Amino acid sequence: MGKTGEKISILGFGCMRLPTYGRYDDIDRKQASKLLDFALESGVNYLDTAYSYHGDGGNGGDSEVFLGEYFKDKDCREEVYLATKLPVWLVKKKDDMERFLDWQLERLQTDYIDFYLLHSVKERNWSYLEDMGVLNFLDDALANGRIKYTGFSTHDEIELFKDVTDSYNWDMCLIQYNYLDEEIQAGHEGLKYAFERNMGIAVMEPLKGGVLANHTPPEVKKIWDNAPIKRTPGEWAFRYLWNYPEITTVLSGMNSMQHLVENIFTATDGKSNSLTSTELKIMEDVKEAYQGKIEVDCSACHYCMPCPNGVNIPGCFSYLNQAAMLDDPTEVHIQYKFMLKDEEKADMCTGCGVCEELCTQKIRVSEKMKRVKEEFK
Ligand SMILES: NC(=O)c1ccc[n+]([C@@H]2O[C@H](COP(=O)([O-])OP(=O)(O)OC[C@H]3O[C@@H](n4cnc5c(N)ncnc54)[C@H](OP(=O)(O)O)[C@@H]3O)[C@@H](O)[C@H]2O)c1
Repeated sequence: MGKTGEKISILGFGCMRLPTYGRYDDIDRKQASKLLDFALESGVNYLDTAYSYHGDGGNGGDSEVFLGEYFKDKDCREEVYLATKLPVWLVKKKDDMERFLDWQLERLQTDYIDFYLLHSVKERNWSYLEDMGVLNFLDDALANGRIKYTGFSTHDEIELFKDVTDSYNWDMCLIQYNYLDEEIQAGHEGLKYAFERNMGIAVMEPLKGGVLANHTPPEVKKIWDNAPIKRTPGEWAFRYLWNYPEITTVLSGMNSMQHLVENIFTATDGKSNSLTSTELKIMEDVKEAYQGKIEVDCSACHYCMPCPNGVNIPGCFSYLNQAAMLDDPTEVHIQYKFMLKDEEKADMCTGCGVCEELCTQKIRVSEKMKRVKEEFK
């Protein structure tokens, strides 16, 4: 991991999408433990969580609590690198930072966090956090051993990314990166920028929250089918990322054994600069074929949830994207009708805009909900 010298597995376990019993805040602990057991046995040694994961709308979620129980049960805390994040949007004064860190250590049943990140730094909160003394807080936490290394995550633009990067001696950062998102947010420029500064780089949303693996437009499918090497769309997406020497670890939210096994298998061949020119050309063709096919850039991160009016925002957008990608969307229309409850559908959207404040992809949700209504009327 960059200047730290720590040896991190190239596949990290994203604990934002653990298996649940349906509701996002109701983790299926038995299945989640099984997945973690298998991941750790297979060499995955980096777990990424956050105060808010598996909670409701930014408040304390169950992901950290589950991990704390898991570490205790399996007595395996020392075997993993644990990354978690300060929920900066809940910080109103410097004491809050201390309070959150202590509370997170308690939830995680540990004395230290390996990688402590400022969660989702934005232009509108960065100077406020600096003025409040967030960098001194990190210095103190490092000095007294409660955290080992520092980092930040952001979905904001490259200017903010550089500004934050230059403001502190960060060990690492977490950025959204996948073959369709190289020119947005920190993007490729940010990747290079952080790498030149010897920071470790963890990647989130490598499959765009699953879109790149699960919803393939016919034009893209044709390219995969004609490729001389047979790989699943997920394998192509991961191999593309691991080809970059700048990327330290790719985090994936893996909530089924099938996905976990596939991603671990793909990682065995994930070497930097390993793709041939033919393979890179295939990826360029795929990127081109995707142009205009994704109607909403939703990565289903759930930061917008719960909607005050009950709309299942990521669900609605997933159906809209699927319908937009297919020549014949009849099946998707049927799924929208029967898989979503009426109270979760776009008709419930009042355009209040609460979600737009929280959206990591800056989607104009209210506008797009009108498209969902129109598509599925
Ligand atoms: N700090 C931040 O602001 C922030 C934001 C987002 C994410 N993150 C972190 O980054 C981690 C990774 O991001 P992500 O969860 O969005 O990763 P991702 O890999 O882009 O998306 C995960 C989803 O992809 C699908 N998937 C995974 N492996 C697959 C495979 N082999 N074949 C088919 N589908 C597969 C699953 O979707 P289905 O369940 O639909 O099948 C899974 O839920 C998160 O878990 C979280 O820890 C941080």
